[in-house]
Amino acid sequence: METKLTALTVVLVITATVTADYVRPQPRKTLHFPWNPKSSSHPQQVHISLAGDKHMRVTWVTRDGSSPSIVEYGISPGKYSSIAQGESTSYQYLFYSSGKIHHTVIGPLEHGTVYFYRCGGQGPEFQLKTPPSQLPITFAVAGDLGQTGWTKSTLDHIDQCKYDVHLLPGDLSYADYMQHRWDTFGELVQPLASARPWMVTEGNHEEESIPLLMDGFESYNARWKMPFEESGSSSNLYYSFEVAGVHVIMLGSYADFDEYSNQYSWLKADLLKVDRRRTPWLVVLFHVPWYNSNWAHQGEGDEMMAAMEPLLYAAGVDIVLAGHVHAYERSERVYNGMPDPCGAVHITIGDGGNREGLAHWYKDPRPKWSVFREASFGHGELRMVNSTHAFWSWHRNDDDEPVRSDQVWITSVASAGCFTKNPELRKMLLAP
Ligand SMILES: *[C@@H]1O[C@H](CO)[C@@H](O)[C@H](O)[C@H]1NC(C)=O
Repeated sequence: METKLTALTVVLVITATVTADYVRPQPRKTLHFPWNPKSSSHPQQVHISLAGDKHMRVTWVTRDGSSPSIVEYGISPGKYSSIAQGESTSYQYLFYSSGKIHHTVIGPLEHGTVYFYRCGGQGPEFQLKTPPSQLPITFAVAGDLGQTGWTKSTLDHIDQCKYDVHLLPGDLSYADYMQHRWDTFGELVQPLASARPWMVTEGNHEEESIPLLMDGFESYNARWKMPFEESGSSSNLYYSFEVAGVHVIMLGSYADFDEYSNQYSWLKADLLKVDRRRTPWLVVLFHVPWYNSNWAHQGEGDEMMAAMEPLLYAAGVDIVLAGHVHAYERSERVYNGMPDPCGAVHITIGDGGNREGLAHWYKDPRPKWSVFREASFGHGELRMVNSTHAFWSWHRNDDDEPVRSDQVWITSVASAGCFTKNPELRKMLLAP
């Protein structure tokens, strides 16, 4: 569906871009991964994620089913003062059998510290850096990654920026039922995802359901286990975590979200736990954008927005990051379709580099709330400087990493006095 739309728009856009000062790049080819035989107990596809205060989950895959789920770690290379035992899983998808997928939580870990670690008692040593205990903190943000030449370029750019945690608003591998592509994606992101926590939520390309055979999200849930249990959620499709003064909520565009749903009640309970003295910033991610003036996926987020936007508004969410649309767009603070100083800044950052190409076609005139929109591959950086000021920047892949194509200072909702203006709404919506 999306591919057809892209093919159609490519024709329209070629004429449109000739006169623009910025010549937009073409999609790049899917990467090819040479067959690289390793011993069957060799740890592959290593990635890490935050797992509750001072803890990190290490995930990796081995082809050998008897390989142990242990992680040895310490603060000096080659010297492992601690060892943790984890769990493992595997899944079957039609004729594909996954390797053994290991999940091992390590900790307690010191904040802002480099740890050296090894998976399964053998193989190469990896190193990770834990996030700081307090602000400032920097997030790298890129959605709809896939595994093309553009993905590689996005990852290279992210690798050059100094970030603490990666946030991914859905659509990781674009495996699209071809299960070995989850494995090649795991290998592609390992250099980054084994060094900094990657916090992800699901997109449509993660679903891979087949009527009567596969329920959906089997591969995603098995491979990208996130701290949902740690945050009181019953589903890996939505969860939250706190890091250095920021409360981050990962919602699921592909889980039920109406007011009778588990996700809705969990969200309400999670918002009630937010203490702005502990976490002055409140950030939300999900896949399908609510504020989108691109013709691609137009209106797809409307139902979820109708159900959940009042809750986010009452709770004073600062920033919402979404993907799905393969382009970049930033709104001003907005609520209920209108600019509102107590609403959230909505950012669509679905331009990580997947094989479907860019979404070039925008609605005109530009809606009042839309500040900046452009169809180019890139990534975002969100630096929470202190309790009141954050700096957001968007970096095109065509430019050198330090070049910011869009940038803005964002001041927190909490510091704008929105809560005192709005106590009744807040009480009503957040009442248990
Ligand atoms: C927070 O950072 C901003 C931007 O650097 C600065 O103007 C402001 O004074 C800082 N606030 C505090 C309380 O340090």
